[in-house]
Amino acid sequence: MELVFATNNKHKIREISELLDNNIRILGLADLNITEDIPEEADTLEENAIFKARYVHERTGMNVFADDTGLEVECLDGAPGVYSARYAGKSKSFDDNIEKLLREMQGATDRRARFRTVIALVLDGAEYLFEGTVEGEIISERRGSGGFGYDPVFLASGFDKTFAEIPLAEKNTISHRARAMQKLLEFLKERANL
Ligand code: IMP
Repeated sequence: MELVFATNNKHKIREISELLDNNIRILGLADLNITEDIPEEADTLEENAIFKARYVHERTGMNVFADDTGLEVECLDGAPGVYSARYAGKSKSFDDNIEKLLREMQGATDRRARFRTVIALVLDGAEYLFEGTVEGEIISERRGSGGFGYDPVFLASGFDKTFAEIPLAEKNTISHRARAMQKLLEFLKERANL
């Protein structure tokens, strides 16, 4: 089976390809010569993921999935959420986003937060959603140099190291994205056995 992952992120494509059996081949947007940025302008992760998957399905007719992720902070009523990538502004860096987050949370005692990934799949014309979350908290100073995004300030529950301090391979076993991917894979494997 060939399945499109509606992303240009080579790391994400490699990550999921490694988890898959040989009978499913993952293609990225670059393999389909889709070079434009697919808009992510909806107000929920679900809508963004579905929009991206449909966008590629409508252009190619292929089976496709897309993901969208947000950091949801309890004391900020779920912000930055779907706006995580552009929290401090459209062309701002990961560091600017962390800066804004720490500013908004200054003095907060309830620092609970979760990463949430939603994957939308269009398979044989039907649509499916999968979700993966990891619970944790936002610490008040950056720690570690690995990972990306909000990793230096995110401490997963039960861990004393941030996502930027633990090895990538370990992060990839417990992360929101890994959990959502795992659900997608289980679904695909069941379908393949039908
Ligand atoms: P995307 O939907 O995967 O592009 O993620 C949107 C934004 O969420 C990214 O730009 C990051 O700011 C944040 N994010 C997503 N995944 C992670 C992660 O694993 N660690 C830290 N930040 C993340």
